[in-house]
Amino acid sequence: MSHQVRAVVALGKGAPVSLETIVVPDPGPGEALVKVEACGVCHTDLHYREGGIGDDFPFLLGHEAAGVVESVGEGVTEVVPGDFVILNWRAVCGQCRACLRGRPWYCFATHNATQKMTLTDGTELSPALGIGAFAEKTLVAAGQCTKVDPTVAPQVAGLLGCGVMAGIGAAINTGNVGRGDTVAVIGCGGVGAAAIAGSHLAGAAKVIAVDIDPRKLDTAEKLGATHTVNSRQTDPVEAIRELTGGFGADVVIEAVGRPETYKQAFYARDLAGTVVLVGVPTPEMKLELPLLDVFGRGGSLKSSWYGDCLPSRDFPMLIDLYLQGRLNLDAFVTETIALDEVEKAFERMHHGDVLRSVVVL
Ligand SMILES: NC(=O)c1ccc[n+]([C@@H]2O[C@H](COP(=O)([O-])OP(=O)(O)OC[C@H]3O[C@@H](n4cnc5c(N)ncnc54)[C@H](O)[C@@H]3O)[C@@H](O)[C@H]2O)c1
Ligand SMILES: [Zn+2]
Ligand SMILES: [Zn+2]
Repeated sequence: MSHQVRAVVALGKGAPVSLETIVVPDPGPGEALVKVEACGVCHTDLHYREGGIGDDFPFLLGHEAAGVVESVGEGVTEVVPGDFVILNWRAVCGQCRACLRGRPWYCFATHNATQKMTLTDGTELSPALGIGAFAEKTLVAAGQCTKVDPTVAPQVAGLLGCGVMAGIGAAINTGNVGRGDTVAVIGCGGVGAAAIAGSHLAGAAKVIAVDIDPRKLDTAEKLGATHTVNSRQTDPVEAIRELTGGFGADVVIEAVGRPETYKQAFYARDLAGTVVLVGVPTPEMKLELPLLDVFGRGGSLKSSWYGDCLPSRDFPMLIDLYLQGRLNLDAFVTETIALDEVEKAFERMHHGDVLRSVVVL
């Protein structure tokens, strides 16, 4: 059996997304069919639409979602129908060289559904990050479903499925931010704001928010930024150095994904400090740095995929912190929208009007 549902599809490079009827198969071995309840609009969906991630159009967009498991295929033990889950794009395999070394957050063979979802004419869809959740139902690998406390609203829970987890994890997992550290975050959209919340949670002494949009700096303050820098008006490298005794921050998180902001991050960190790149660059971008500075300044230059998270470990923990009032996830939901408003949400994201627009189904 299969299911015909409505979904948001990017049919071709740069073209506006459209609402299509898609065909979702019943779950086969190891798969789960999920009734999507909410799905946030992440900048990565826009990258997909613009052809920045690959050419496998048509893409089924949406990957920051929560919902309820409707049915499961043969051999599935992780979840049962009725479970409230956050979808993840890191269902670890347990067998690759990273998993076997005890570093499953680097898993090189993560699981996705094996069956394809299609348009009604049979054209196979490429689900964004192996999820595709701007849809009434989606098919994923069972390991992509992480069960969490069902009392949390789906539009809040779903945030952890991508951007917010990526930002929090960039700070606490990749950047290893700890008590007393100074942190600067360049770019305070959904991901950067989450890096601020994560740094605050981890006990950072100073959290400096940098953005070109004053609205983003306001929300950054609500999430724990101790200082803000409008980098349209002020040189961010100088400002960060000034705020850190002339030295630079211990950890600088780049959440824009551009060479010029990466350079700012590189020079705004203290000697032997850490740069974490969580923003996603596009294929034509190039970085030029004096190699002597890379050597001479020491420390580490890291990138962070999905905040080096382990969904089974991190999602339930962060949901617990939210329920205890220690992590303000509500602040990330700027608006809830309908499935046919994703294109408008891209427009608003492009203009910087939102932290997150979340589709509620
Ligand atoms: N690494 C991962 O796992 C991961 C996961 C999700 C998203 N991302 C990426 O993170 C990036 C941010 O995503 P988002 O959803 O927060 O996007 P967003 O559009 O909400 O935020 C981007 C922010 O950067 C600011 N900005 C733009 N140019 C700037 C500049 N020159 N200096 C300072 N600030 C600037 C904007 O004002 C905005 O606040 C994107 O590249 C996205 O693809 C990465
Ligand atoms: Zn693995
Ligand atoms: Zn995303």
